[in-house]
Amino acid sequence: MAEQKATNIKWHHGKITKEDREKLLNQKGLTIWLTGLSGSGKSTIAVELEHALIENKHQAYILDGDNIRHGLNKNLGFSPEDRTENIRRIGEVAKLFTEANIITIAAFVSPYREDRGNVRKLLGHGEFIEIYVKCSLEVCEERDTKGLYKKARAGEVKDFTGISAPYEEPLNPELTVDSSKLSVEESTRVILNYLEEKGYVKF
Ligand code: ADX
Repeated sequence: MAEQKATNIKWHHGKITKEDREKLLNQKGLTIWLTGLSGSGKSTIAVELEHALIENKHQAYILDGDNIRHGLNKNLGFSPEDRTENIRRIGEVAKLFTEANIITIAAFVSPYREDRGNVRKLLGHGEFIEIYVKCSLEVCEERDTKGLYKKARAGEVKDFTGISAPYEEPLNPELTVDSSKLSVEESTRVILNYLEEKGYVKF
């Protein structure tokens, strides 16, 4: 956990509650956390899901690993410590978005159980759903959409998840979507059904 450096700071409360925002937007904001190997389909599913939600007049926004590493987290690499800090910062951002009552879709490899668990703890009850985008290393490597597995095998990319760095599968995710068996549309449908069943959205 990051150290609290600033002193003499005080929390300011607003007048608006989460319930006020829920009424306004007709949805319950939450963080949908997609975890899985690089190339498992997290970003593709996130894009499809965001599109489907917006089409149905729900406010959604994607936080994506590759994108966030261009800005907020541009000073972080892929060592275990940097990945932990990456997920910690994203967790804080996801918390803010969730408080703003947005359906926040986070797509990060997030290979460490403890880091994902810390984000879960940071968010309120029912505000974090972990979705394991399951896909074998063989299939991800076969897809190699970004050419990174080839580079990792050649030793040109260090600390690559699944090859030279670990991936810890979720033990109790709210949902698992197997992207080697389901199409992007089918995976998205599974997630949308879950959101509707649990009352986060109404279609
Ligand atoms: S995480 O492990 O810290 O959660 P994150 O999701 O932000 O990772 O970024 C992963 C993306 O960065 C991958 O989809 C891939 O495109 C790229 N990448 C570059 N180097 C690595 C690496 N060593 N390990 C994993 N992904 C990498």
